Amino acid sequence: MCGIVAYIGDGEVGSILFDTLKRLEYRGYDSAGVAIKSGDEIVVVKAAGKIGNLEKVYREMGSPGESMGIGHTRWATHGSPTDINAHPHISGEIAIVHNGIIENYLELRESLTEKGFEFQSETDSEVLAHLINYFYQGDLIMAVTRALDEVEGSYAIAVLAASSPYIICARKDSPLVIGLGKLANYLASDVPALLPYTRDIVRLKDGEIAKLSKETVEIKNRFGELHPADVERIDWNIDAAEKGGYSHFMLKEIHEQPRALRETMAGRISEFGGDVRLDLGIDDEEIRNLERVSIIACGTSYHAGLFAKYLLPIVSGLPVEVELASEFQHLQLRPRTLVVGITQSGETADTLLALKKAKMCNVRLLAITNVVGSTVTNLVDSTIFTRCGPEIGVAATKTFTSQLVTLILLAICLGRARGFLTPEQGRKILIELSRLPALVQKVLDRRDSIKEIAELYADSSCYFFIGREFLYPIALEGALKMKEIAYIHSEGYAGGELKHGPLALITDFTPVVAIATFGRKIQSNIKEVRARGAEVIALASENDADIDKIANVVIRLPDTRPELSAVLCTVVVQLFSYYVAHKLGQPIDKPRNLAKCVTVE
Ligand code: F6R
Repeated sequence: MCGIVAYIGDGEVGSILFDTLKRLEYRGYDSAGVAIKSGDEIVVVKAAGKIGNLEKVYREMGSPGESMGIGHTRWATHGSPTDINAHPHISGEIAIVHNGIIENYLELRESLTEKGFEFQSETDSEVLAHLINYFYQGDLIMAVTRALDEVEGSYAIAVLAASSPYIICARKDSPLVIGLGKLANYLASDVPALLPYTRDIVRLKDGEIAKLSKETVEIKNRFGELHPADVERIDWNIDAAEKGGYSHFMLKEIHEQPRALRETMAGRISEFGGDVRLDLGIDDEEIRNLERVSIIACGTSYHAGLFAKYLLPIVSGLPVEVELASEFQHLQLRPRTLVVGITQSGETADTLLALKKAKMCNVRLLAITNVVGSTVTNLVDSTIFTRCGPEIGVAATKTFTSQLVTLILLAICLGRARGFLTPEQGRKILIELSRLPALVQKVLDRRDSIKEIAELYADSSCYFFIGREFLYPIALEGALKMKEIAYIHSEGYAGGELKHGPLALITDFTPVVAIATFGRKIQSNIKEVRARGAEVIALASENDADIDKIANVVIRLPDTRPELSAVLCTVVVQLFSYYVAHKLGQPIDKPRNLAKCVTVE
């Protein structure tokens, strides 16, 4: 998740751009840059590292520029965090900043190279600069419109041309807001960046393109028709605005999941071929010769690993062993093992150490992480990025569901390469997977009833979460979330294990969250606990007609494949724990004794 900004007016352009960029740093950053108009030229300053360092370089150059500029803070998804890959990208007299993913950038790059354009960076964004330059003949809005017609994917962009008096911006599936000032106009990925300057904002809609001068803002819809700006007056404070109006980053990140999952899948799925494109750096013969997968992870990422333990054998034909990184014994590794380290931060000391031990066994190492340039990426042979933007709440939410989706993509990719999964079988999973972000949104739309139920049980002193197969790791994850943020003792159990001990703890009114969107056996487990006085909150599929007869409360979820319903159930347990913690007044984003990134063994 990157951030973009722009300014046009009589103020000090550089200072305004750097200030607004710093206000977007919470979206994550590894490099930054600005392009500022100076006479008939555009001055570009960009570098890896903090925005403060970049500003120093700009000041040392004598703060060149006047009247307009664009800026970018990057959180890498394509290409490493380097000076060259930092935005703005330049082509001739055009400068652009981009947030999003251009899915067809490889094809566009090839055709632009044939036309004589030279690429400097490894980013997908640079194709946009060259495309706009290719179409530019003095009318910048026309050139941007024609370039965007060629592009597949998501974007929020701001564009400058040395010979144009306007800034052009556009968006599709990436946020962008225009701030209306007095003889000045502003642009940013998010409202908080603009609040010191104006509280009158226009949220650009998908497919819209706008032309900014210091006096006016003209907005055209996707059909090229001009329409009046829909101005919104913001009355939140900056702290609330950074959280997008949500009371905590955790809640904001839970709600970001539909978009995060789309980004995880973007450009990787070939529905027609029933296949998945992942740059694993392993040739098909080596994949065919694999005999097993060994997963290493901690905490929530370990739960994602357990999910893979159920998934990979049936989709790829490969057996999976999952190890807690802190308990990893490297002597167990045999040849023809693919070792997968799952770590959202890419910095967890236990996981890094275990992967180092695994490396000594001469096996192929793959990482699944959310952070480009993190330590794990330098340790392994190849990396799959989950691409869900920085996560600020200490409790992992969107990074976990993105890991689950990444593992589904990996399973299909391996299954197809090994000839275990037919194109038709792959296609079936992928068609349903493409619907997943919309299904997650449906679950989020039921937040009010989940809140009501959570608040009803918020004074309980102990919770049980139960599930079977794909849903067992989700039971563990629900219990972990409840412990972490609500500070309530919780147990996650495989439904069938209750009778082997934990049933002794079930007494009158113990809340048991039964994750029961598929399978009949979980219903017996629900009956077992009900018989001992428990209150059962069941997560069930929309068409389960029997569940009302055995559970006290039912939360209905859209019907889908079992492995995908694990993602939907995750969203419910996240919301459930969140609302319990909120009711109890706990410091949800920063729970006691916990850190976002655990860099000690
Ligand atoms: C729980 C949580 C932790 C992490 C664990 C591993 O909400 O966030 O349990 O999952 O510390 O972190 P990563 O995935 O960064 O290796």
